[in-house]
Amino acid sequence: MDHSRIIVPLDYSEPKLALELVEKLQPALCRVKVGKELFTKAGPVMVEKLISKGFDVFLDLKYHDIPTTVAKACAVAADLGVWMVNVHASGGSEMMSLAREEIEKKSHHPLLIGVTILTSMNEEALRELGYQCSVEEQVMRLAQLASDAGLDGVVCSAQEVKMLRDNLGKEFKLVTPGIRPAGSDNNDQERVMTPGQAINAGSDYLVIGRPITQAVDPVQVLKNIEEEICAASMAV
Ligand code: C5P
Repeated sequence: MDHSRIIVPLDYSEPKLALELVEKLQPALCRVKVGKELFTKAGPVMVEKLISKGFDVFLDLKYHDIPTTVAKACAVAADLGVWMVNVHASGGSEMMSLAREEIEKKSHHPLLIGVTILTSMNEEALRELGYQCSVEEQVMRLAQLASDAGLDGVVCSAQEVKMLRDNLGKEFKLVTPGIRPAGSDNNDQERVMTPGQAINAGSDYLVIGRPITQAVDPVQVLKNIEEEICAASMAV
């Protein structure tokens, strides 16, 4: 892997706070994620600013709409120069394939990632939507659909990594939130794994927020996590 596997979410509504954190971080040590909150406030200008500082940007807007609308949005994200962009796999294979096609027409090709089942959803929530299967079965189904539609990978919980890695091969990218270095606060994450456990299970990229963003010395925390990841990668 060319770069760090750590993705730091910039979950701020104030661009100033996001930039203050970014000033402490280094592109060699992490990538950054811009989600709906920061993007709604600061827009593409913020994304361009982060890219100009040398960061790989994961544009986490989870597109879900008719195929043409999603594909055009992905094409614009490619023009913006983001490193990774995502769509909801439940938008269906036609939506995902068209997004892939539109991105391929561009000179810069971001990684195109599918969102399976949000980890905030449980089986009861699936029933409410009319699904009769388990969360795991639905995650597997959507990840397979994403893979068949030519997506580069999916966002999933660390608990699902092994199943997806075993079924979808080693090139398929698995991006996992809910990661906590040993000894840090779980915050509102229910089922967490340490960075080492997630890498051992087969995760490619780890989204790690508060343990880094709320640390007194975020760079030191990043370096410690990087060491743990390196040790785990050698053992895989
Ligand atoms: O590490 P921390 O819990 O602070 O990370 C929170 C970030 O991870 C947020 O950007 C959130 O959107 C993202 N995320 C999550 N759980 C998911 C998917 C994404 O916490 N299942």
